[in-house]
Amino acid sequence: MSDNWHKHDMDFLGGRRLRRARRTAWSRAMVRETVLTPSDLIWPLFVIEGHNEKTQIRTMPGVERLSVDLCVEAAKAARDVGIPALALFPNTPDHLRSEDGREAYNPDNLMCRTLSAIKDAVPEIGLIADVALDEYSSDGQDGLVRDGEILNDETVAVMVKSALVQTKAGADIIAPSDMMDGRVAALRAALDGEGYESTQIMAYAAKYASYFYGPFREAVGSGSRLKGDKRTYQMDYANSDEALREIEQDIAEGADSIMVKPGLPYLDIVRRAKDNFNVPIYAYQVSGEYAMIELAAAAGAIDRKGAILESLYAFKRAGVNSVLTYFALELARDLAG
Ligand code: PBG
Repeated sequence: MSDNWHKHDMDFLGGRRLRRARRTAWSRAMVRETVLTPSDLIWPLFVIEGHNEKTQIRTMPGVERLSVDLCVEAAKAARDVGIPALALFPNTPDHLRSEDGREAYNPDNLMCRTLSAIKDAVPEIGLIADVALDEYSSDGQDGLVRDGEILNDETVAVMVKSALVQTKAGADIIAPSDMMDGRVAALRAALDGEGYESTQIMAYAAKYASYFYGPFREAVGSGSRLKGDKRTYQMDYANSDEALREIEQDIAEGADSIMVKPGLPYLDIVRRAKDNFNVPIYAYQVSGEYAMIELAAAAGAIDRKGAILESLYAFKRAGVNSVLTYFALELARDLAG
């Protein structure tokens, strides 16, 4: 401060000092604009075959793939701390993956068995079933492939069959994560046609072709198979107006809620969606975001708990209703305890 600075040089403040509200813990608590509760957290689970089996995911320290019986235990733990819903992702055994992804509509597939086991044992928790072919196909793409092209309408037809077996098995929410055109309308019509008017559709409406999905692909076993990329159907990360068109379209086709994915790098899209549409908005804190926090914390670069909480508050501040996050159980326990 130079010697000729005088206190009256601050007169432009006119007595308005924002730090006043931040001086004490009680005052900070009182002016806090958003809250985070267990009901804001949706927990994704990776399922494998077997009994009492857990396997590590190299790039997601702290997350394990679980056999069906352990998923049931996880569902009980989630219910007990107030997590409203689980999102399930199967790691389909290699010998059941095929070019036509037919395992996706096998009524006895791993996904369906998990849905019905949890529905029987823990009926209070919501079950979100991912619908896309990458978890069943031999080439890791979300759709059927012919001559290097991802087929749209043929893929939608398989997804409809997949969603119906999932719904029969106990799915409460069908979540198409594929980005094919017209899938929401097709799913809605098929569900209604079979008498499942109450089954919700949570559309991954603005899903970007992202480098942050790497660890997930290891978790479900699709990464090593993937030839090429997903840029002919997932969105270009340079675009924002296009996300609003995707969301508008999915709502028009009958989506009950929409999702933005990935999460933290796309909170501008969440905010635009919130300002433009009156539907529930979800966002997915994806595997790469999880890995970045865990690995940075393990390296001593950031405070782990603090960074996790800060990241989830950022989602709430941007306007989401709930967040799909691999931190859900741990965080809900902290928040509940
Ligand atoms: C694909 C799907 C992906 C994720 C959820 N569903 C990956 C992809 O599109 O390649 C990613 C989730 C995550 O990274 O945590 N159906």
